[in-house]
Amino acid sequence: MAEKILLTGGAGYIGSHTYVALLAASYEVTILDNFQNANRSVIDRLEQLTGQPVSFAEADIRDATTLAGLFAEYQFDAVVHFAALKAVSESVERPLDYFDVNISGLINLLRVMDAAGCRNIVFSSSATVYGVPDETPTPETAEFRAMNPYGQTKISGEQILNQLTAADDRWNVGILRYFNPAGAHDSALIGEDPRDIPNNLMPFIAKVAAGELEELQVFGDDYDTPDGTGVRDYIHVDDLAKGHVLSLAALLGDGQSHLVNLGTGEGHSVLEMVSAYKRASNRDVPYRITERRAGDVPVYVARADKAEEILGFKTERNLDEMCASSWKWIAGPHSSEDPGPEEKG
Ligand code: NAD
Ligand code: UFG
Repeated sequence: MAEKILLTGGAGYIGSHTYVALLAASYEVTILDNFQNANRSVIDRLEQLTGQPVSFAEADIRDATTLAGLFAEYQFDAVVHFAALKAVSESVERPLDYFDVNISGLINLLRVMDAAGCRNIVFSSSATVYGVPDETPTPETAEFRAMNPYGQTKISGEQILNQLTAADDRWNVGILRYFNPAGAHDSALIGEDPRDIPNNLMPFIAKVAAGELEELQVFGDDYDTPDGTGVRDYIHVDDLAKGHVLSLAALLGDGQSHLVNLGTGEGHSVLEMVSAYKRASNRDVPYRITERRAGDVPVYVARADKAEEILGFKTERNLDEMCASSWKWIAGPHSSEDPGPEEKG
């Protein structure tokens, strides 16, 4: 019988792509999302993409009663936990909201899981737990360094999960530290929703290429990198989604907890990203070099061998494919759908 998975935050960017990958791997999936940062039409588009109705609950991960009801109804075998707030600058302004959703929300979920006897969880962590790392490519053994409240919530989430598995070996936990997700599903039905002015590089470049924003500000060209601009390990969101399928298979198969980076092991600078996007979109991407962004890390590149060794994870999609799929999504009909003010926070 197909194993049943609860996908919190499944209407979001990475969650929606992971939903498609989990269905392709024959899991039975229920999405839980409160649409704090997602468009309701994602659910219809997932139905269109997969040709199946989506099992879906509109709820908040901090709502224990609703969560317990879902566990009683569906008897989940595992949870893939994406639901979180993720804007770094907002976390500096409103730290309590971040602690509440990302930490209290996680604890609430774990309590409900424990009571329901479901003790398998895949947790979305981030390269941000490394702060400014001493070593690049950065191995999983690098120390925790919180740069902001958001980063602190990911460190705390990992520590909570590690202490839980140490206290009770019935828990199986997969901690996945994502580097920089980019691109969209090839169907152009789902992607990163870029309606607000984006903070992140790829959606910002996409909007400049589409003519919706005038120019990209390149935050500093005096870093100790080949062209002086910031370097990141961009990973295609569909590769990232497959990492979750492998992580779940490991937890539900031999019950082995694991902690891995999910990245390609290759870095690209801001200016390389601009060139790649210009090639993919055949549009100009005007840019201007400005001051460094406060709190920015010069280089984030993953040591990617542990995920391959433990999970058999290997990325398949290159930078050109990330840019081409992003452009297909941005230029398509769905990326700028407006759900109305009450539907997106
Ligand atoms: P996203 O905002 O697109 O998705 C998160 C989803 O969670 C959204 O659909 C949102 O509506 C939902 N959500 C938020 N608060 C909720 C709550 N209280 N109850 C129920 N649902 C709630 O973000 P994403 O980029 O898909 O990120 C998914 C996860 O990956 C997050 O945990 C994020 O911190 C982590 N992560 C993201 C990146 C990145 O660059 N995108 C990098 C590293 C880690
Ligand atoms: N950048 C610009 N101009 C922009 C936006 C970004 O030059 O308008 C540069 C940044 O300075 C950086 C690079 O592009 O050098 C990537 O920046 P992003 O904001 O896209 O990504 P970050 O790596 O800074 O942060 C993201 C998430 C974090 C997460 C981290 C993991 O926002 O939450 O990836 O690597 F922790």
